[in-house]
Amino acid sequence: LRAILDSAVDGILSIDEVGTIESLNPAASALFGYEARELVGTNVKCLMPPPYSEEHDGYLAAYRETGDRKIIGLGREVTGLRKDGTEFPLALAVSEGHAHGRRIFTGIVRDLTEREALRQTERRAVEAEKLASIATLTAGIAHDIGTPMNVILGYAGMLENSLEDAKQRKRARLIGEATQWVADLIQTLLNVSRPHEPSRAALDLSDVLTHSLDFFREKLKKRGIRTECRFEDVAPVAGDRDQLEQVFLNLFVNAADAMAEGGMLTVGLSQDVPGEVVISVRDTGTGIDPEDQERIFEPFYTTKEPGKGNGLGLLVSRRIISEHGGTVQLHSELGKGTEFEIRLPTRPSD
Ligand SMILES: Nc1ncnc2c1ncn2[C@@H]1O[C@H](COP(=O)(O)OP(=O)(O)OP(=O)(O)O)[C@@H](O)[C@H]1O
Ligand SMILES: [Mg+2]
Repeated sequence: LRAILDSAVDGILSIDEVGTIESLNPAASALFGYEARELVGTNVKCLMPPPYSEEHDGYLAAYRETGDRKIIGLGREVTGLRKDGTEFPLALAVSEGHAHGRRIFTGIVRDLTEREALRQTERRAVEAEKLASIATLTAGIAHDIGTPMNVILGYAGMLENSLEDAKQRKRARLIGEATQWVADLIQTLLNVSRPHEPSRAALDLSDVLTHSLDFFREKLKKRGIRTECRFEDVAPVAGDRDQLEQVFLNLFVNAADAMAEGGMLTVGLSQDVPGEVVISVRDTGTGIDPEDQERIFEPFYTTKEPGKGNGLGLLVSRRIISEHGGTVQLHSELGKGTEFEIRLPTRPSD
């Protein structure tokens, strides 16, 4: 039996009724990065990050008292915690046994890191494929549609200026606005399909953020949204002003759309580590379901009615930020609000 345990590919541990580790095989100690003797006698909680570690005592107690079999069963996906503090996805199966009149639990654990990486690669491949098809489609239509759109736009403007009757003028204006919408969409599609190298000027982000917000202040006020800026002094970043403004505008529009009943938009700028600036855009809006949080970056994913959103804003934003060597992260809670956190490298000192 010992030989089987020692040669098993999966990690196998046994714990007593209160969670103390009694034994483990080499695969388990390798997986978590401990020597076996470091773990025997300690509580199994040390192999789980919070909040799971706190929940675990509750599960065991519930099982002892009520026989609630929450922890017993096949194939749950949980998160493991290695000795070096890193977390990793883990498949866990727990079973119950009796030995020498005592109850023991056996856990079989398997590292899912590779499977998770594979899943992400697959997801990215699907996204890349979608993008490639947008690129072909766009290249084909953008030119053909763009040109007549500009003609319509031009003449609608002239018409609006030349008409006497207010009602007629309004009609001409609506034609112009609708055409502008299409022209903008085409431009966005072109940006998605033909990314261009961002320029690298030294930018003062508080200035860029303030400028982007100024576009919007009146509209926000009308919608009952208060804004608060918390800007600290930060180092300049090297970047493309227009592109970064486009990102911030996207985030502000999204935040405003999520606060139909009014709320608070907080824009922050700070630097907690050298070499990296943090921009945060937080709203007190609807929040985003955990299940949808990965999808919101997909092309054409939108929950807005047609004519209000194309589902391209975040895709373009994330692309711009990664072209600047930065990252976009998201924290959101349904019913409470959403925070987008952008990290950009500061300008290398030359
Ligand atoms: N701050 C937010 N709060 C709640 N939901 C959000 C927020 N930001 C984005 N979302 C969700 O993510 C979806 C995708 O956002 P994205 O900006 O990519 O597209 P969009 O706003 O729908 O359209 P557009 O192309 O005009 O930006 C939104 O439709 C919305 O459901
Ligand atoms: Mg948007």
